[in-house]
Amino acid sequence: MVGCNCKQNETLMALKNTVDDKNLGSRIQLNPEPLISVAPHAEAWIETKEAIEIFSPEQLAQIDTIVAKYDAKPNYLIPILKETQETFGYLPAQLQRHIAVGINVPPAHIFGVVTFYAFFTTVPKGKYLIKVCTGTACYVKGAQEIIVKLESELGIQVGETTEDKKFTLEAVRCIGACGLAPAVLIGKDTHGMVTPGKIIDILRRYS
Ligand code: FES
Repeated sequence: MVGCNCKQNETLMALKNTVDDKNLGSRIQLNPEPLISVAPHAEAWIETKEAIEIFSPEQLAQIDTIVAKYDAKPNYLIPILKETQETFGYLPAQLQRHIAVGINVPPAHIFGVVTFYAFFTTVPKGKYLIKVCTGTACYVKGAQEIIVKLESELGIQVGETTEDKKFTLEAVRCIGACGLAPAVLIGKDTHGMVTPGKIIDILRRYS
């Protein structure tokens, strides 16, 4: 258990406010402890990226437009991050800092939220995101063998992106297609009853 101090309490309250966002359609029950433990590391991470400025003033202006659309309110952080990621493909430190300034919250606050939710990413992903389901139904029907085959065919490990930026490989929990186990998502396409042999043919459709 991480001991609390005032700064951590402040961060916790800010995070609670962020996730209390009615735009999400349902209220999120947040267990704040993992976020408290992230906060002390977040500033250091952001600092190490301080010198890397890869986005142009024009691109940063696009973020300003997104932030303004949500009245620069911290309570809309998640929709702001979602739209920013849809625009740029990922949420690196520079964009996180720019949003932090725009809605007037500490960069650690943004970092905590980005790293808490699996659908946010701080690194660019490939054109096609391959998600191999490793939920129980898929696991018992050979999901691991599919992962091994994909890793060998693509020359990457789970969590990595191919050099040509075409494919990113991820292992995920149940994707809601248990009747088709083992299931693999590629982009928005669901492929069911996949075998290590079939997955290579499927991949070719995306080449
Ligand atoms: S366990 Fe794989 S889709 Fe449900």
